[in-house]
Amino acid sequence: MHKVLFTETVLRDANQSLIATRLPFSQFEPILKTMDEAGYYSLECWGGATFDTCLRYLDEDPWERLRNIRKHVKNTKLQMLLRGQNILGYKHYPDDVVKTFVERSVANGIDIIRIFDALNDLRNIEAAVKETIRNNATAQVAISYTTSPVHNLENYIKLIKSIEEMGASELCIKDMAGVMSPKEAGEFVKAIKENSKLRLDLHTHSTTGLAYMTLLKAVEAGVDVIDTAVSCFSGGTSQASTNTMVFALKQLGYDIDVKDDKIKEINDFFKPYQAEVLKSGLLDPKVMGTDADALNYMVPGGMLSNLVSQLKAQNSMDKFDEVLAEVPNVRKDLGYPPLVTPSSQIVGVQATQNVLAGERYKIVSKEIKAYLRGEYGTPPGEVSKELIAKVLGDEKPLEVRYADTLVPGMEEGKKAAGSLARNTEDVLSYILFPQIAEKFFEDREKREQNKVSYTITRRD
Ligand code: CO
Repeated sequence: MHKVLFTETVLRDANQSLIATRLPFSQFEPILKTMDEAGYYSLECWGGATFDTCLRYLDEDPWERLRNIRKHVKNTKLQMLLRGQNILGYKHYPDDVVKTFVERSVANGIDIIRIFDALNDLRNIEAAVKETIRNNATAQVAISYTTSPVHNLENYIKLIKSIEEMGASELCIKDMAGVMSPKEAGEFVKAIKENSKLRLDLHTHSTTGLAYMTLLKAVEAGVDVIDTAVSCFSGGTSQASTNTMVFALKQLGYDIDVKDDKIKEINDFFKPYQAEVLKSGLLDPKVMGTDADALNYMVPGGMLSNLVSQLKAQNSMDKFDEVLAEVPNVRKDLGYPPLVTPSSQIVGVQATQNVLAGERYKIVSKEIKAYLRGEYGTPPGEVSKELIAKVLGDEKPLEVRYADTLVPGMEEGKKAAGSLARNTEDVLSYILFPQIAEKFFEDREKREQNKVSYTITRRD
């Protein structure tokens, strides 16, 4: 029986999927030492939405959070999620910003960077992958998993070959919607293992209830790493439970390093916090349940709830079924993008507009225009020629990678951030989230001034 490694997600994806990434550092600091001793392959603890949320809601410097985690976690690898050329923001950034971000992430304590692009356009991850390798960290490339008439095993294997050529040392299948079935997982993992020597991780969500079966089939087919979350923060839109998978796989005879007593201790630690966030409403029992609708619509859970809130805001919930039926049409017109940030929003908003306006593409969002221009990368399939003609007119789609049309950003960002930014990390925070970072820096100055005057008063 082969070895199965575990990536624990409670600090990043489980936190993001269940409680809108609001877990403060002070809440989990006391358990970090135990987490370090638990025998995980890695702790996914940074990147994704954690960066934005730290600055915006938690009054925490994300870089300081990373350094503090590293202080307590001396042996286990620390892992982050990076959206390729998007970094952790919501648009594409020039290469110098991407590279500096990667370099600083590693310098502050990250060991493994999971890098992905919503469209699986490898040009959008190359700069991040190369820089990760240059800094002696592990580049794990994630493939956004989806099914469509243009997605098949053969294409995925081609993609994986290119990822190998790029120098990445780990692969991840990223099933953000939790729609990968046990059958697909078995076939997919087998095919990848036959074609690639790279360490393979499966990342899925429990949203539709498939996760445990899918993970088991993946393990049987030879997957090396699985992503799971501590039991009381597992299930629903989060990952499958660490404690449950460790129990089942150990009994089946797989070689597992994760220690039963340690993960029990970690679960016991988070239980009172789970009770607290359930009581405050931050954790909604709805996201903890099983929602098989996504299997019919192939729409990720987060996108489904966005559609509902958009329609509610326009008093048009009666159009819900029509909008859901329009989603696959828009996706087809756009060349079958995987539905993950940002393409899930782009498709969802357009499907809603097509239905509410009573005419398809009568109103077109600026994101759709940018998408058709090629600013997000090359879509997997062919984009509707009529749609391109209608939206872009005489304008031609980009022939080069969008980031190549951008001027370098670090110097500009440093100037714009001014004296509030104390170091390169601050400049990066500012480039990604200018207004939010500025407010964070100002509040930080105020806090420190108060502290100084308090100290002086005491001395007097
Ligand atoms: Co995820």
